Amino acid sequence: MTSNRAPGEAMVEVTGVTRVFRSAGTTVRAVDDVSLTIGRGEFMAVVGRSGSGKTTLLNLIAGLDQPDEGRILVDGQEVSRFNDRQMTEFRRHQVGFVFQSFGLLPLLSAEENVDLALRIAGAGLRERQQRTRELLALVGLTERAHHRPYELSGGEQQRVAVARALANQPALVIADEPTGELDSTTGAQIFALLRDVAAAGVTVIAATHDPFVMEHVDRVLEMSDGRLLPEGEGLIVSQHVTKRSAPSATMNSAGSGRADVPPARPSPR
Ligand SMILES: Nc1ncnc2c1ncn2[C@@H]1O[C@H](COP(=O)(O)OP(=O)(O)O)[C@@H](O)[C@H]1O
Ligand SMILES: [Mg+2]
Repeated sequence: MTSNRAPGEAMVEVTGVTRVFRSAGTTVRAVDDVSLTIGRGEFMAVVGRSGSGKTTLLNLIAGLDQPDEGRILVDGQEVSRFNDRQMTEFRRHQVGFVFQSFGLLPLLSAEENVDLALRIAGAGLRERQQRTRELLALVGLTERAHHRPYELSGGEQQRVAVARALANQPALVIADEPTGELDSTTGAQIFALLRDVAAAGVTVIAATHDPFVMEHVDRVLEMSDGRLLPEGEGLIVSQHVTKRSAPSATMNSAGSGRADVPPARPSPR
């Protein structure tokens, strides 16, 4: 990471962003004039019905796609004006991804899946071995290091995916429906783990339609037809007014601003 910005500063700034998809004579404004700011170390959930534009918004912030209008700054860099090479570098070194279907390589062990992310980013053997060990410990999977994905439960696979997402010490973790294939207890554990990641100073943005996430995140924003509803408004948000009134001191006190290894506090499995 190249950043030396102070904690509390904006990590993600989205200004007037629109993404339009045109196909077979129809036009969909998947993201429609969205503006928002997300702080360093903030854990934000984007909720909304299927098709409301959550994935499209996350992809734009993560440098997987470019907006038709508007501007996106991540850690002070204008992602929305990156060329292909810059986008690849950004995704490889500065963003960690967690997907609904885990996205692990089936023939590789937990350890090798994490190691691969480090290898792609060009880390040396010694560093890779140490980071891999630390990361698997962090997500509570030291004992499962040599297991392949099919030998792991869904929750364990997603823990490996979180470890992999953190491999290159990203400033930003993007999680698109990370609990979509998990039961609610396991899903809550994954959100608690992401909570710890954010507490260590990593900005986490998760798209979900699980209402229980509200207990784990700092802020919930709701999308509807590509638009971001005013904070605190929206059907899903207002039906679950379990907003965390005061962030828990234990979880939220770190905020060091460094995307380092979060404290080893794996949630019980
Ligand atoms: N690549 C694409 N081409 C055409 N339409 C798309 C594409 N990606 C998304 N859309 C449309 O944009 C809207 C928002 O989709 P998406 O961002 O995937 O929503 P969500 O993640 O909230 O389910 C939907 O109407 C979807 O069909
Ligand atoms: Mg989606």
